[in-house]
Amino acid sequence: MPTLAAAEKLGRIVIRSLPTLPSVYYRVEETMRDPDTSAADVARIIESDQSIASKVLKLVNSSYFGFTRKITSLRQAIVMLGFSAVRNALLSISVIKAFGPGNEDFNRKEFWKHALAVAASARFISVDWRLGVHDDAYAAGILHDIGKVVLDQYLHAEFVRSLKLSQREGMSLHEAERRVIGASHCDVGEYLCESWSLPVRLGEAVALHHKPSVIRSDPRLVSVVHVADSMVRQLQLGHSGNYGPIEYNEAALEELNTGPERIADLLSKLRQEFAMNPDLFAIFEGD
Ligand SMILES: [Fe+2]
Ligand SMILES: [Fe+2]
Repeated sequence: MPTLAAAEKLGRIVIRSLPTLPSVYYRVEETMRDPDTSAADVARIIESDQSIASKVLKLVNSSYFGFTRKITSLRQAIVMLGFSAVRNALLSISVIKAFGPGNEDFNRKEFWKHALAVAASARFISVDWRLGVHDDAYAAGILHDIGKVVLDQYLHAEFVRSLKLSQREGMSLHEAERRVIGASHCDVGEYLCESWSLPVRLGEAVALHHKPSVIRSDPRLVSVVHVADSMVRQLQLGHSGNYGPIEYNEAALEELNTGPERIADLLSKLRQEFAMNPDLFAIFEGD
């Protein structure tokens, strides 16, 4: 049963000051809107924050960005991967940096592993199935469960009750959150994306990743994130606190024009990919 007190608290999240993204992200966003911007301009802005710059470089060097040759500078990364791939790597680092290290009830390192694995898988699916949403898929993958971190931070006791309910009953965490809190990480995540002024399609992928049949503007993106999430859970990469059944929503499979055979094929490719490239989580080193 959603408690009134919890629902009221959730309302208070909205008026409390949520974490903000580092200013370097918005400066890059703005600069990229100028058609005369060069790779050197963007690299210079990112390099103004050395800790972010070194993590972005580590992230783009992880094989999930499709290059085996070592990228040694941000300028080179932008030239080789393009503005949008680097902006999304920067978004990922910025999102992780916006939140603190967490607590023992909800292992945030495992959580970010899950998010990074979903991001990498979503991008991999987009490339492998030629869906043309590579960079958005990566960003939406990183963000898809972000509402859980907000709930953990701002409604901790209720969120922990939701985790326990999900574990005890084998119920999807978003359902458990709805029962305990009256809203889910999908709702809260979408709100956070809006408050960060991220593109609407990313917020929608966050809002709908557990119910991709309710589609608003970008059905492919929503479906890719949904499928990537289920695959990563099947591959047991990281943990996001969800003890519910692993599902492949019919509407998402239809949207991606896929079925069990293609899913099985992709799962084995992803299993190999992750086994060969444990550097996915290298950006956590030194934290
Ligand atoms: Fe989720
Ligand atoms: Fe997830």
